[in-house]
Amino acid sequence: MQIFGVDIGGSGIKGAPVDLDRGDLAEERYKVLTPHPATPDAVADGVKEVVGHFDWTGPVGITFPGVVTGGATIRTAANVDKNWIDTDARALLGARLGGCPVTVLNDADAAGVAEMQFGAGRGRRGTVILLTLGTGIGSALFIDGELVPNTELGHLELNGHDAEKRASTKAKEDHELTWEQWARRVTKYLAHVEMLFSPELFIIGGGVSRKADRFLPLIGGIKAEIVPAQLQNNAGIVGAAMRAAKTAT
Ligand code: BGC
Repeated sequence: MQIFGVDIGGSGIKGAPVDLDRGDLAEERYKVLTPHPATPDAVADGVKEVVGHFDWTGPVGITFPGVVTGGATIRTAANVDKNWIDTDARALLGARLGGCPVTVLNDADAAGVAEMQFGAGRGRRGTVILLTLGTGIGSALFIDGELVPNTELGHLELNGHDAEKRASTKAKEDHELTWEQWARRVTKYLAHVEMLFSPELFIIGGGVSRKADRFLPLIGGIKAEIVPAQLQNNAGIVGAAMRAAKTAT
């Protein structure tokens, strides 16, 4: 079965039909740049362009980089326009897509759902935490394979700062940190999350998971196993489509 997945990110809005049996894109994904400011209207136009590129008319799963309740309502918007807060994204995006059934979920939760089924978390029980390190830090917490949604562990306080401002890849770029300096911050962050949740496994996602060999060897002193995500930049698209399939049936 194929369902369409869209990933709304800080830099791009990407999407493709997803082959749910393989957990992979059925066609090469299409991407437009995220508008700035990323207002609900402007982002909805971008989503429409991506979905329209494939002439898709069925169910669509869409990720959002903030808290999403009930598959619809946006509650926070740390890295996109604040007008998103309290928007019914399911209604807005569904209308813009000409009435396609739409499901919306947090971007890290979507990536986690995909990794647990098809990637680095396959078959893993116990407590598993996926962290996406990118513009912000996203988190997805799983207990015996079940998602606890909207955990927002990127906003834990670290040395008096919002953790994502210290340990995201954006923080690495903004502060021109070396891999070693950044890895020290990520280690501190992981130690803090480990102190709170004692997970068996950390999965590190986001674009930087492609460069895992540059920083994972620099992270020490964490008891949990730490592995890079496997679906990398497609995890959000795949997870969004998986969620939409679940709601459509
Ligand atoms: C948001 C999260 C999101 C993460 C990654 C954070 O700033 O609060 O909801 O998952 O960024 O995009």
